Amino acid sequence: MNNQRFSDETSEWESRIVSSPMSITDLPEVVEIELTTIYSPWSGEMFRKEIESRNPGLKTFRFKSQLIGYFCFWRVLNEAHLLNLTLHADFRGKGLGRFLMRDLEQTCNEMKISKILLEVAETNFVAVKLYKNFGFVKVGIRKKFYQETGDDAILMEKRLQRR
Ligand SMILES: CC(C)(COP(=O)(O)OP(=O)(O)OC[C@H]1O[C@@H](n2cnc3c(N)ncnc32)[C@H](O)[C@@H]1OP(=O)(O)O)[C@@H](O)C(=O)NCCC(=O)NCCS
Repeated sequence: MNNQRFSDETSEWESRIVSSPMSITDLPEVVEIELTTIYSPWSGEMFRKEIESRNPGLKTFRFKSQLIGYFCFWRVLNEAHLLNLTLHADFRGKGLGRFLMRDLEQTCNEMKISKILLEVAETNFVAVKLYKNFGFVKVGIRKKFYQETGDDAILMEKRLQRR
């Protein structure tokens, strides 16, 4: 992987990314990636519970068979609560976050979900920018939400268009 950003001109990269429901065999790679995140990393056990409950909001993404990212949301009535969206460290800063967000929205649309909610650390500038670019708006603040860093969380939401 070079430093190329994923853009409209590099969509051939995207066509080679394969998404699938997360499975138990993904766990070693997922946990390794999760250890590189600062804000409330998940344990393998947390992912295992989601896999065993067959959460339809739990997906992985592979590029040339390497696990490059995943997301997890819970469905609550007609809302999706995004709990985790993470890329492998080697694949960050290349525009791939947009790819995961597009898949997240498509998955939510297929499930007839009308709103996505998420919390993001106010200091996580890249994630905040990604979400704003995607049309998420700030709807609140959760003070000292992240125990590890003491950071506040910004609560954001996006209403999805019914197709
Ligand atoms: C958050 C995350 C998914 C974003 O995905 P990404 O592919 O790295 O992000 P992108 O490359 O699409 O960048 C998003 C925006 O931030 C900008 N950006 C990227 N790196 C940046 C940096 N180091 N400094 C400032 N801005 C930066 C990009 O330019 C882009 O904005 P633009 O599209 O207007 O140009 C990814 O970085 C990640 O997995 N981080 C660790 C886990 C995490 O924090 N998850 C979010 C929890 S809420």
